[in-house]
This record gives sequence, C-alpha cells and structure tokens, in this order.
Amino acid sequence: MSQTLIQAHNLAHSFDYPLYNSIDFSLQSSQSIAILGRSGSGKSTLLYNLSSFLAPNSGSVKLFDKDVYNLKDQEVAYIRRYEMGMVFQSHYLFKGMSGLENIEIATMLSNQELDRELLKKLQIEEVIDQKISDLSGGQQQRVSIARVLNKKPKIIFADEPTGNLDKTTAKLVMDVLLEYVEQNEAGLVLVTHDEDLAKLCDRVYRLEDKALEALQ
Ligand SMILES: Nc1ncnc2c1ncn2[C@@H]1O[C@H](COP(=O)(O)OP(=O)(O)OP(=O)(O)O)[C@@H](O)[C@H]1O
Ligand SMILES: [Mg+2]
Repeated sequence: MSQTLIQAHNLAHSFDYPLYNSIDFSLQSSQSIAILGRSGSGKSTLLYNLSSFLAPNSGSVKLFDKDVYNLKDQEVAYIRRYEMGMVFQSHYLFKGMSGLENIEIATMLSNQELDRELLKKLQIEEVIDQKISDLSGGQQQRVSIARVLNKKPKIIFADEPTGNLDKTTAKLVMDVLLEYVEQNEAGLVLVTHDEDLAKLCDRVYRLEDKALEALQ
C-alpha cells in the first residue's frame, strides 16, 4: 500500500526577494519526483523547507504525517537519522577520512550494515579506502550518495547529485537511486539541471515564476 511520505501545503519563502508563495507538494512511497529550475529560482531552498532543515516563512510540511516544524527536537533528530537521507549540493564529507570511514559513520549512527554491492554499482569500490581529498569531485559525489543510501532512508533528498558527473556516470547514479526507491518503497526528491535525467523520474516539476509547474 502506498504511503504518503511528504505532504506540504502553501509553502512560501523569501530571502532578498520572494522565491515562491504558495507551493503544494506531496511524495508517495515508491515515487520519484524531479525539480528543475533556473539557478537562483529557489530549488535548494525548497528542498531545505521540505527536509526539516529550514522552516518556510509560511505553510506546513508533514513528513510521515508529522508536522516537522512543530515537533520536539528529539523527534526531528530521529527522522533525520533514521528515516531520511540528504545528498547536499556541496556534499560535506570529512576530508581527512577515507570514503569508507565517511560511510561507516553514517551506517553506525543509523544502525545499518555497509552494503558493498552498492559501492560496486556506484563504481567506487576500488577507491573507497582513499582519503576524500585524494578523490575526484565525481568520486566524492558518489561517496556521498553511497553514504546516504547506506542509511536505508525512506525519503531521499538529492540536490544536484550528478552535477559533477559525465553523462554516463550520471545515468549510472540515477539508475542506482531509482532502483533503491523501487526496492525499498522509498521516495526521491531530486533537484537537477539535467532534463534528460529528470525525465527518468515519475513526476517532473519546474520551479518558475514563484510556482511549481507540473511538466510530467
Ligand atoms: N541562507 C540564505 N540567506 C540569504 N539568501 C539566501 C540563502 N539561501 C539562499 N538564498 C538566496 O535565495 C535564492 C535562491 O537560492 P537557492 O540556493 O534556493 O537557488 P537554487 O535554485 O538552488 O540555485 P542553483 O541552481 O544555483 O543551486 C538566491 O538568490 C540565494 O542567494
Ligand atoms: Mg541549489
């Protein structure tokens, strides 16, 4: 049975200028949604609003039917640790540690086992013992994706997870994400500039003129 993972109503947010003023958004289990939009349109901000990290100026966000911006800190921490994973636009890996150590921190915190198969699929198995600072940008990006998927989250938020990748590797990463969603009945919210990758998702929206327009 399909589960509602995200239910957001009437979201508005502005910084120096209004980014959007009444966005409704929902995500079901086993569903993938892509968000396109020009640089500066507010895609990352929307992702932060949806993922418990930034309260919108107005509107509400429910994750797993819980109103995230009216929860106790402990409850938010639980959701962040066990139920969702965030692939940030800048990926925040610990530079002095190896890729494997970075992943192990996440698996330890969420009581999960390391999934070697996933490292193979992402083609980072051979470089996983190298220090992050010795990895290429694209390899680092894939380590950060492995780190998030190894937590076994129910919702994945991914902010341009293929931004540093060539087309072939980007497609490979996309396949890994979509396969994860299908096999785990998880949900994916993907921000991307790549229309071809966006089309692989169940739904595609564009953030434009302060609103979320459905394309697919
Ligand atoms: N913490 C912040 N404080 C002030 N302004 C911010 C903050 N975060 C974002 N902004 C502004 O909000 C606007 C939207 O930023 P956002 O990062 O959401 O855009 P984006 O669509 O993700 O762009 P990109 O495609 O370049 O990543 C920008 O003008 C940015 O300067
Ligand atoms: Mg962004």
